[in-house]
Amino acid sequence: MLYFLGFPGASALLVPPDGECTVYVGGVNYEQAKAAGKGFNVALFRGGENLMTRIADQAKECQIGRLLVDALNVQNWQALTTDLQGGCKVEVNCSYVQKLRAVKDPAEVGLMRVAGELTSRGMEAAAEAVKAGAKEYEVAAEAEYAMRRRGAGPSAFETIVASGAGSAFPHGGCGDREIRDGDLVVVDIGATYNHYCSDMTRTFVAGKPTAKQQRIYDAVKTAHQSAFQKIRAGVCVADVDAAARNVLKDAGYGEFFVHRVGHNVGLEVHEPPSLNPDSPDLLAAGNVVTDEPGVYISGFGGVRIEDTVLVQKDGCEKLTVGAYSLVP
Ligand code: GLY
Ligand code: MN
Ligand code: MN
Repeated sequence: MLYFLGFPGASALLVPPDGECTVYVGGVNYEQAKAAGKGFNVALFRGGENLMTRIADQAKECQIGRLLVDALNVQNWQALTTDLQGGCKVEVNCSYVQKLRAVKDPAEVGLMRVAGELTSRGMEAAAEAVKAGAKEYEVAAEAEYAMRRRGAGPSAFETIVASGAGSAFPHGGCGDREIRDGDLVVVDIGATYNHYCSDMTRTFVAGKPTAKQQRIYDAVKTAHQSAFQKIRAGVCVADVDAAARNVLKDAGYGEFFVHRVGHNVGLEVHEPPSLNPDSPDLLAAGNVVTDEPGVYISGFGGVRIEDTVLVQKDGCEKLTVGAYSLVP
């Protein structure tokens, strides 16, 4: 609904085959929905009123024979199908809207470009904050502050600052651990801008990297660049994954790359298509995807490098930009 309406807080949107669309909102968001002035009929539903009954009544009035539902929890699905009394077939399928959302129009790309720039600035602040003696949450705070004070919305996901052995967990969170000299530190951040997300990871060493840390880092960097060179409209996502995976296999780290190479990004940080090794999906111009290979060695640490990338007809463009340097 945010995608179609441009504001959060709507409870339902009914799109009939002909005629006016109706957005249903509770009292708390009613004035905001009207002010958004998107040409929808704004219907108020009051506390105590059953929204599914309202929608069923509207569907009956429009004599709809088939109702396609994008997303509905089980309770509401039961209520809706009961209220429709079999007069209308309900089909739940989120892929129609997902397909629309996967390809960004120029206005969306503009917003994602800003989100990417803000995220890049956040990463610069994080790099400055990574040093022995700093707490993980202090690094996260510096990154988030740098983004928000430049106009970012809330983070696209919980900031990850995972240090030492904790960096071997791909989604290692962010705690009160103090970074020690020689630790690997994975920093994964994402600004939002006008609700659109960005996603970026850099890995640093606090102090001087060991030869093993540098070797892993160089392999991940080559994998990241190899995938980046593949990204363009018409390419199968499995081939993008393979470009990174083969580099890491050849370097002897294949078994430590435990996730897909990337995912589409938009109003949510993880959207289809997924860039996984078994997917037949092809990239399309206007997809915005991540390129994020990683190596995670239990008890030792992890390295991930991630950028958010706009897919174009003849190539691609990074929306997050920043140096690759193991030493912050
Ligand atoms: N920040 C979550 C991810 O990289 O997918
Ligand atoms: Mn990601
Ligand atoms: Mn990420």
